[in-house]
Amino acid sequence: MRLERVASHVPTDARLADIGSDHAYLPVALLLRGVITAAVAGEVAATPYQAAVRTVRDNGLGQHIAVRLADGLAAIEPHDRITAISLCGMGGETIRDILDRRKARLSGQERLILQPNGGEQPLRQWLMVNGYRILCEEVLRENRFDYEIIVAERTGPAHYSEVQLYFGPLQMQTRSPAFLLKWQRLLGLKRRALSQFARARHAVPEEKVQGLLRQVEWIVALLDGSLDAQPEPYDE
Ligand SMILES: C[S@@+](CC[C@H](N)C(=O)[O-])C[C@H]1O[C@@H](n2cnc3c(N)ncnc32)[C@H](O)[C@@H]1O
Repeated sequence: MRLERVASHVPTDARLADIGSDHAYLPVALLLRGVITAAVAGEVAATPYQAAVRTVRDNGLGQHIAVRLADGLAAIEPHDRITAISLCGMGGETIRDILDRRKARLSGQERLILQPNGGEQPLRQWLMVNGYRILCEEVLRENRFDYEIIVAERTGPAHYSEVQLYFGPLQMQTRSPAFLLKWQRLLGLKRRALSQFARARHAVPEEKVQGLLRQVEWIVALLDGSLDAQPEPYDE
């Protein structure tokens, strides 16, 4: 379901670079369905790279999908004329670092389809600082995990507030049941952490306690509807 939701954000006729592709299931499924016209499957590790080579070969798609052993965006060459990049199933900080390390490989025309496992706030921060606007966001739950999908394009600078970066500017407006359930669960975990801090034998740094208290305040306000959603990111 997670990769199906990611797939739904890939534009028709895209030329997709799936970075950290593992078995290359996403580009293979999209090519077999005729959604995309070409793809690069990038992998940094030998075993998933070989798995991707096998999936592409077994489906007879070697003409359409280039499988490359490379670190992050180094898998992309200008002649690939990539129009969409997916980075899925990695921490938000890892995705951010992959994007930041080789920014020069981004033409700025690509749609980014990102599925971070945690670390969404620093990833959104990177998107904002680098001129990306968030077009779509969703939360979904599968196998007892909450997954987020963030779709962004470089279509002009957008400014997001601290709370928008934390919760997701569009999710704050939509308030889907999956989104609210995710934050209800996290509120319980953060409150438990605070009470453990209070009982800890060694003092927890005050800065850490204050940071957690602030997050709890934000989450409570989000759930009771009193947090200002700031509906429209404003142009600079
Ligand atoms: C958990 S898997 C996710 C696979 C697939 N994208 C998915 O969502 O199901 C993460 C993959 O990212 C790859 N990876 C991690 N860092 C990478 C990097 N810097 N460049 C390319 N691939 C990377 C790992 O080798 C691993 O196969």
